[in-house]
Amino acid sequence: MNQSESIIPNAEQPSQIILLNPSDYEKWRGENSDIDNELSQNQGFAGKPGQTAWVKSSEKLSVLVGWDGEATLETLGNLPYKLPEGVYVVDKEIDLNAIIGWGLGAYSFDRYKKPSRAPAQLEIKNQQLREKALAIVDAVSLGRDLINTPASDMSPSHLEAEVFSLAEQFEASFNCWIGDELLDHGCGAIHAVGRAADDPPRLVDLQWGDESNPQVCLVGKGVTFDSGGLDLKSAAGMRQMKKDMGGAAIAIGLAKLIMSQNLPVQLRLLIPTAENSISGNAFRPGDVLSTRKGLTVEIDNTDAEGRLLLCDALALASESEPDLIIDFATLTGAARSAVGAEISAMFTDSDSIADKLFTHGETNSDPVWRMPLHEPYSSMLDSKIADLVNSSSSGYAGAITAALFLNRFVSNQTDWVHFDLMAYNTKTRPARPEGGEAMALRTVYSYLEEAYA
Ligand code: BES
Ligand code: ZN
Ligand code: ZN
Repeated sequence: MNQSESIIPNAEQPSQIILLNPSDYEKWRGENSDIDNELSQNQGFAGKPGQTAWVKSSEKLSVLVGWDGEATLETLGNLPYKLPEGVYVVDKEIDLNAIIGWGLGAYSFDRYKKPSRAPAQLEIKNQQLREKALAIVDAVSLGRDLINTPASDMSPSHLEAEVFSLAEQFEASFNCWIGDELLDHGCGAIHAVGRAADDPPRLVDLQWGDESNPQVCLVGKGVTFDSGGLDLKSAAGMRQMKKDMGGAAIAIGLAKLIMSQNLPVQLRLLIPTAENSISGNAFRPGDVLSTRKGLTVEIDNTDAEGRLLLCDALALASESEPDLIIDFATLTGAARSAVGAEISAMFTDSDSIADKLFTHGETNSDPVWRMPLHEPYSSMLDSKIADLVNSSSSGYAGAITAALFLNRFVSNQTDWVHFDLMAYNTKTRPARPEGGEAMALRTVYSYLEEAYA
């Protein structure tokens, strides 16, 4: 059993979850037996978030769960593995995000190791609410699975296969340029990053939906392993780099959700994917690449490879003049220094889109924080022999200069949002088990639903 079976329509005799904040708990004590009062107190319960206690308020055992009076993603998010296996029902009406929190908390990555137990299950009778929660949990779980799968089982061809199977499931059109085909189509940057690896680089392209709908294009950085290339990473820096296709995983999960919920958009999903590896034919510092946009790029550091994958994909995305382009990428360590591992850095020229995304991030407990596309810093990307360098040699503003690099490849006619994110939970928190995480997925979906549905 996994997260998809953790939310069910009905059960024989579910145990009750009684949500209580500190003052409700005082009231509850007045209305219940001395035994239950003592029991709950002995378990350290005071009605605070994160606390649970077993009581015998009726013939059956019930569980008290502390909260702050408002159901959020976190409210039930640690219960699936904190409570014993079995089915539970909440004594109050809870909203979509609390249900999603249960499903996300029930996730476990069990491809290589049997889970030690099944998650507890939640009964949700309301079919509409249950199905929507499950669709969102499914999209996030797909993203997590792709990120958690090591590079040996998640190479560019695996990522392509994931997108292909989605195309089949939702009757979308599918195209993929592989290896030297990338050169035939002007994508010299994607080709250069991936050509040293056994599994050739590629640009995967899925298109779905009614052509009369507004076109939304999702782009995700799909570096299946980032060794750093010839400017090799340190052992510590390389250790987590199976997650460097996190942006692709998020874009794929989000695309699945958009299609499963039939959002009235014309969707395009572009996944540039490559392994940043080394061998005799690896690209080098000092090389000059030609890109889809026609701009030439001098390589300053082969570890700044994500922007090279994205620049060709963003140029291609711009050619069909979509209404909106959103890219997701584990692009810079600098973004992690700026906003840490739990917040996604967001770049866009549109104040109104930024404000809306920020609000959706807050209401969905999937926070994003805007950073500036500060144009004067573009000069840090000047090259003496090409149109621009791929990374600035100054140690400053690494996330901003990376975003400004991408900006050069996006048409000014198109709204564009860029996310520089971690795609990984460094520790377990409610609804967020340690490991791969589809950050910004729920925020962007919630925004798209408001903007287009
Ligand atoms: N994939 C990394 C960025 C990264 C590192 C994201 C750790 C999240 C956690 C990216 O390809 C990279 O190596 N960026 C370099 C760029 C530098 C060479 C200009 C970085 O951020 O150090
Ligand atoms: Zn890198
Ligand atoms: Zn990378």
